Amino acid sequence: MLAPFDLVIRNTSVVLAAVDPSLNAIPRGAIGIQGGKVAYLGAEAGLPPGAVTPATRVVDAKGGFAGPGFVDPHTHLVFAGDRGGEFEMRCRGASYLDIAQAGGGIMNTVRATRAASEDALVEGARPRLARLLAQGVTTAEVKSGYGLDLANELKLLRAIRRLGQSQPVRLVPTLLCAHAVPAEFRDDRAGYVRLCLREILPAVASAGLAVACDAFCEQGAFTVEETRSLLSAAQSLSLRVKLHADQLSAQGGAALAAALGALSADHLEFVDARGAAALAEAGTSAVLVPTTTLFLRQRGFAPGRMLKDAGVNVALGTNVNPGSAMSESVGLTLGLGCLENGLSPAEAYWGMTRGAALALGLEEEGQLRVGGPADCVVFSCADPRHLPYHLAVNHAAVVVKSGQVAVDSPLAFCAG
Ligand code: NIG
Repeated sequence: MLAPFDLVIRNTSVVLAAVDPSLNAIPRGAIGIQGGKVAYLGAEAGLPPGAVTPATRVVDAKGGFAGPGFVDPHTHLVFAGDRGGEFEMRCRGASYLDIAQAGGGIMNTVRATRAASEDALVEGARPRLARLLAQGVTTAEVKSGYGLDLANELKLLRAIRRLGQSQPVRLVPTLLCAHAVPAEFRDDRAGYVRLCLREILPAVASAGLAVACDAFCEQGAFTVEETRSLLSAAQSLSLRVKLHADQLSAQGGAALAAALGALSADHLEFVDARGAAALAEAGTSAVLVPTTTLFLRQRGFAPGRMLKDAGVNVALGTNVNPGSAMSESVGLTLGLGCLENGLSPAEAYWGMTRGAALALGLEEEGQLRVGGPADCVVFSCADPRHLPYHLAVNHAAVVVKSGQVAVDSPLAFCAG
């Protein structure tokens, strides 16, 4: 006998996001949820008899569309300190690298993060994560990278784990000890790389605090050779790898990501056709973070259209962080993904749902299918194209994580 559903979303059109790049929806549809899993996807008229009882919570989507929870594949959500002053310097014309070379930038946040307690880091990140959830993000990658020594990288990763356990967004932790060379190693880069190889990587892997390792491969950060040795060591400890690649200059980061069989190459403002072909061949995803390109006032956005046409899985992330993208806006990310990276609305939507899940190596997230996790969002618009078109606006009205209503906001339905 059929067990009644715990939750039913009705009066909706359901976008499965399982097929790229189609936004085909099930019209006059419904989603049935039971035990945290999707139990029914189809026409509302086809809901099985007995599935809806007085105990079932019924959400009326009022004609808005419903789709899988968003996946944010690139964030630096946990940090301390404030870099509003650097933002003002950049408004006056200083570049991100100028500020970094003057002792600001990432090192500014490292000083504040080292001084902060684990509790303070968890509490500081909570409102940022709540803002992501309120927009329909049900899974997010979170990087360390503001500790840059063993104790502080472990502290950050523990803070990420605690944050994930205390609220309803699944967090995917990434070690980013190769984010910058810390001040105490300024004259001994090789010494810092050795510290990462001999102490930080093995300790993080054995504590099970990260599933992947990232590195910032860039002038002023880590060279291609340093990045290769760090990420190869991470792989030998069974961590997946990814890198900040070709962000501020062409460094061959995409080719390195491909050669390593990385999960993703992120940023890619300076990737060329050869780099794109290498990513496609290796099955390495591109994670574009267009809010950052805007925020840093860079001229060229990453060539999303070229990457897509080359056959690369293109994902989009907010990259929320205190220096290069102080913004949790999913709507702005999707809009810039279309307007500046050259993606269609359907491709941008894919980029923060299934495409992002693939970039994180996640099997189930970012799609709706019977038997899969009941992570879904009911939007206040009927047309998915309104997510990027109605720019930088939050359209999420109801957010469901693992079958539980996590956000139920009074957003009025808008016709589009
Ligand atoms: O992804 N590029 C390196 N890391 C971050 C910026 C971090 C910061 O400035 O605090 C990024 O853009």
